[in-house]
Amino acid sequence: MKEKRTLMLPGPTPIPASARRAGADEIIGHREAECDELIEEVTEGLKYVFQTTNDVLILTCSGTGGLEASIANTLSEGDKVLSLCTGAFGERYATIAERYGVEVDRIDFEWGTAVDPEVVEEKLAAEDYEAILMTHNETSTGVINHPQPIGELAEKYNALLLVDAVSSLGGIELKTDEWGADVVVTSSQKALMTPPGLCLVSVSDKALAATEDSDLPAFYWDFNRAKDRYDRDSQTPSTPALSVLYVLREVLQEIKEEGLENVFNRHKVVAKAIREAMRAIGLEPFVDDEIASKTVSAIKLPEEVEFSALSSKLKEDYNVYVTGSKGHLKGKVFRIGHLGNVSRTDALSTVSAIEMVLKEEGYDVELGTGLEAAQKVFEEERK
Ligand SMILES: Cc1ncc(COP(=O)(O)O)c(C=O)c1O
Repeated sequence: MKEKRTLMLPGPTPIPASARRAGADEIIGHREAECDELIEEVTEGLKYVFQTTNDVLILTCSGTGGLEASIANTLSEGDKVLSLCTGAFGERYATIAERYGVEVDRIDFEWGTAVDPEVVEEKLAAEDYEAILMTHNETSTGVINHPQPIGELAEKYNALLLVDAVSSLGGIELKTDEWGADVVVTSSQKALMTPPGLCLVSVSDKALAATEDSDLPAFYWDFNRAKDRYDRDSQTPSTPALSVLYVLREVLQEIKEEGLENVFNRHKVVAKAIREAMRAIGLEPFVDDEIASKTVSAIKLPEEVEFSALSSKLKEDYNVYVTGSKGHLKGKVFRIGHLGNVSRTDALSTVSAIEMVLKEEGYDVELGTGLEAAQKVFEEERK
């Protein structure tokens, strides 16, 4: 018998059983009233999770498609944007803008640190920018960048704030309207616990107004086509990923029932348990507690352990999936995803499996040390 798969990746993430079953429902016509209802329910559920009254558009693609759409709809060739890069995904957002002929000024923060609003303000005070691009949760380093101070700066300097929330939305608080985020992009396969295939994008009035001036080409990605169609008959301009929408509808109901505050708290506690467990076995988290992500933890690898050995043994012997790192962190840091439908017992079994594989690889660890540290976090939480 193969042991249960424990998917501890920063996406795709495990899907709750009832939602998985919803995905097996029979296909309906995408121009039928039943589909209008489906899309309306999903849109309303998304507004709750995005904490917005803005339009939330449903695009059939993964997160990158939505990032591309955020550029193609709101900017023009030659516009200047300020890109806040704290890792691989921040760099990718900047690269997308460059591909569209947008002039990108990058602020490169050291990997493992967060965006410093003071540095951002210096740039904004010195030059005019149409937009600021930021990554809410930098998945490659496990760092949270707080959108609120950047939203205040965007307002002060009259720039749009475009936020990549692909690995955060639904797992880490993001108050879209209150914090002034004009475009927020996420995708289905992360904290929204749904299969890959949908990208969800909130668009403020300021961002919609910017679409009027944009001269970049967009058809499939056109926000106004999506908005107009939804406003007309609650449909999408092209055939949506219906089965993925069935799952998402179910998940959004579950999130509503649990309550956003509880969802965020659950992520916080699991993140803390994982970090404490790694510390207890002598592995240092890559980033400081104050800026540590609640959806993915980056952990430094001990010198004597190869990432390939750790990951393949976790997979083959325990059916536990973790991932490596990108860029210059490759081979030095590994990442444990804990977002969406990841339970305390998933965290505990992952910690146990890591201890066992590390020991087998010659790392000096007393079995149960990390497990106990994680248990204490959960015990504390129940008091
Ligand atoms: C922060 C962030 N942005 C963008 C992406 C790309 O998303 P997708 O693979 O859905 O296109 C990811 C994927 O992990 C991500 O974590």
